[in-house]
Amino acid sequence: SQELIRQLEETIENIPDFPIPGIQFKDISPIFLNPKLYEEVIRDLVAFSKGKVDAVCGIESRGYLFGIAIAVALDVPFILIRKKGKLPPPVVSEEYDLEYGSAAIETRKGQIKPGQKILIHDDLLATGGTTEAAAKLVQKQGAIPVQFSFLIGLKDLNGKDKLEKFNAEIYHTLEF
Ligand code: PRP
Ligand code: MG
Repeated sequence: SQELIRQLEETIENIPDFPIPGIQFKDISPIFLNPKLYEEVIRDLVAFSKGKVDAVCGIESRGYLFGIAIAVALDVPFILIRKKGKLPPPVVSEEYDLEYGSAAIETRKGQIKPGQKILIHDDLLATGGTTEAAAKLVQKQGAIPVQFSFLIGLKDLNGKDKLEKFNAEIYHTLEF
């Protein structure tokens, strides 16, 4: 709602030139100082996914802050997508390109079930590279990324373009 967006705009802090010059960092940590506001955010994100998914995948680490609460409210499993090397074997991995070099994300093998309709959740959609890799990781396990949700979408970075090919629903609570 407009009121929720207004409160979030007031609460999320913009830090220029962090962690490197030119980046406008959005600090979401003040949201967690306000449990009522946190509840409203969860309500908003849950409304988008209610009745539409069999499981939620959250992306390390800020994707866990809202992702687990969404899954609990939807009464569906939550699966951790972690950065490479954090989960014990057996794992399933997906590599992706960064501005310099590459990275990989992983889930424990068997936690995502073939045919499941999956919500992929993260706090922020920037370039979309992380979320795109998460969707491929879901697909290679025979499941279907049917929804993507974010607290924040950064409109200038066109992250949505990278997600178009999945033909999934995309939602963000607010946009900067
Ligand atoms: C940030 C953010 C998203 C991702 C978005 O995570 O939380 O996960 O970057 O960027 P993209 O759309 O360009 O891929 P970060 O890697 O900083 O790690 P963190 O969540 O552990 O803080
Ligand atoms: Mg992140």
